[in-house]
Amino acid sequence: MAEDVLRLDNLTKSFGNVHALVNASLTLREGEVVALLGDNGAGKSTLIKTISGVHRIDSGQISVRGRPVTIRSPRDAIELGIETIHQDTSLAPDLSIARNLFLGREPVLFGFLGVFAPLDLGELKRSASALLKRVGISKKLDADAPVRTLSGGERQSIAISRAMQFSAKVIILDEPTNNLGVEETHGVLRFVKEVRDAGHSVLFITHNIHHVFQVADRIFVMRRGEVTAELVVAETDLLTVESIITGADMSELMGGARHK
Ligand SMILES: Nc1ncnc2c1ncn2[C@@H]1O[C@H](COP(=O)(O)OP(=O)(O)OP(=O)(O)O)[C@@H](O)[C@H]1O
Ligand SMILES: [Mg+2]
Repeated sequence: MAEDVLRLDNLTKSFGNVHALVNASLTLREGEVVALLGDNGAGKSTLIKTISGVHRIDSGQISVRGRPVTIRSPRDAIELGIETIHQDTSLAPDLSIARNLFLGREPVLFGFLGVFAPLDLGELKRSASALLKRVGISKKLDADAPVRTLSGGERQSIAISRAMQFSAKVIILDEPTNNLGVEETHGVLRFVKEVRDAGHSVLFITHNIHHVFQVADRIFVMRRGEVTAELVVAETDLLTVESIITGADMSELMGGARHK
């Protein structure tokens, strides 16, 4: 069996009396795509924010390649090879597309483009255009254009392009196909498969179960801060997954016993 690249054991996180994570555990193996599902407010974004260094966990353990780690900041996560695209994407609206693609990563950029002068804008622009094409941006975008001139979906694609170029070991995508058109959605799903085929691991959150069946190997379902189910995509079907996500709610509506 492939090694666990990322392992979360009993993560707990509360905001006041909101128990956003309650002993949440999951694993992500090398070269696999894992989908994290669950209704609104289940704790999915909070879970990935603890991995990406946005939130500190109250208790539990995060391990990367079998080694227990403490993630205190987004920088810690990036240094561990974990790149995250958040649901509320943060790009710098007044900077160009090209600059956004490399924002905050200048030291890496210099290492990456060793033979080029630092911040060689011509090269930045060429790299940016190639990335945009790869992620399936349908419109011909000018890499010099400021990000504020883009649509929400185009901004999302730019943020995903950013993660692609750094080839992180683990890429986390929080609802990456939200607001995207057909072509951009295919671009993102194609990217997820490409990354997996190259041996990297992807954890992605979505409400679109069809996308899960197109690209994921395993599924974890969250409910009220807990990870309540783990499924192998090849051994399950859409209706089963839907009923696991919503089934407990329905039994509650009917006054029935709650099942995990
Ligand atoms: N910074 C915060 N402060 C207070 N409460 C928060 C904070 N972040 C999340 N929560 C709460 O934690 C719970 C889990 O939220 P989270 O954003 O993780 O859900 P989610 O599964 O990502 O939902 P969605 O599918 O709607 O994005 C919710 O009750 C939410 O209101
Ligand atoms: Mg969320």
